[in-house]
Amino acid sequence: MDVNGLSESLVFGRKITGLVAADLGDESIVRELRDLWVRYGLIVFRDGQCDPDFQVALSRCFGELQVHAVKEMLHPERDELFVAKGGGTDSSLLEVNGEVLGGYIPWHSDQVFLAETNHGGILRVAVQPEVGGNTGFIDQIEAYDALPPAMKERIEGMEVVYVMKAGTIPNFHFLPHQVIRLVRGQPFQQQLDAKIEQGLYPPVVHPLVFVQPETGRKVLNLSPMFADSILGMDPAESDDLLWTLADHLTDERRAYDHEWQPGDMVLWDNWRMLHCARGVPENMYREVHRTSITGDYALGRVLAEAAAES
Ligand SMILES: [Fe+2]
Repeated sequence: MDVNGLSESLVFGRKITGLVAADLGDESIVRELRDLWVRYGLIVFRDGQCDPDFQVALSRCFGELQVHAVKEMLHPERDELFVAKGGGTDSSLLEVNGEVLGGYIPWHSDQVFLAETNHGGILRVAVQPEVGGNTGFIDQIEAYDALPPAMKERIEGMEVVYVMKAGTIPNFHFLPHQVIRLVRGQPFQQQLDAKIEQGLYPPVVHPLVFVQPETGRKVLNLSPMFADSILGMDPAESDDLLWTLADHLTDERRAYDHEWQPGDMVLWDNWRMLHCARGVPENMYREVHRTSITGDYALGRVLAEAAAES
């Protein structure tokens, strides 16, 4: 395999070419892959093996895999693969800054509305649209480093409350740089809203800053999507601070936009990289298969438990 930077200007991310299943039997290669994942946060695998079995085997090098609870969303042959569909006739449609898109998801961390978030995942595009379908990534270590010193001092020790909100994406707060309007709802929305009503997603708390244990680097640990408030802060002050931080964090000048080529797979560190789905034009269809690599950074808590402890 061959390891290179993604571009001259990016401080995160690596591109690995030519990786195949036989390489995964070599412990030194697997160790190097894990090290690159932690150090660079994002790995694009290109011009190597690319199929469901290899995607699962490669994902297992980084940890145990989760099987998604919703059976209808699983790959027909591999339970470890979650199938995400965007666009097509039964997808939700959003107008984003004047453009109607299917499969658009703003900047977020996966599972941040749970106390235990997955450590990462590997994405593979199964159906590539003719236009669009890019995946964006932002490094929260780089974003932390770019904060003014006074802000770093201010936010140290703060915690953020996350809530899975009923309704569609326009109901979420703290999504700067975009005006989103619902054009067509998604078919699963009512089922999801019913689960929220039943209390299956109690509010959770995560630290606003955490230290990557392997390197000592600090992460601006904020997912603008799903964020609700700063724990214990006056609501107006909390809103103001979260808007300021979300605006800084989702500055597109620090983003990497992955344009998918046939045979690509992309691994990211969900504890350190924000990602977003740029969506597809309304008449296009895109299908992505992804794994979820488990782990627990052990810093998230259910809000009711957090309140009881303080
Ligand atoms: Fe995601």
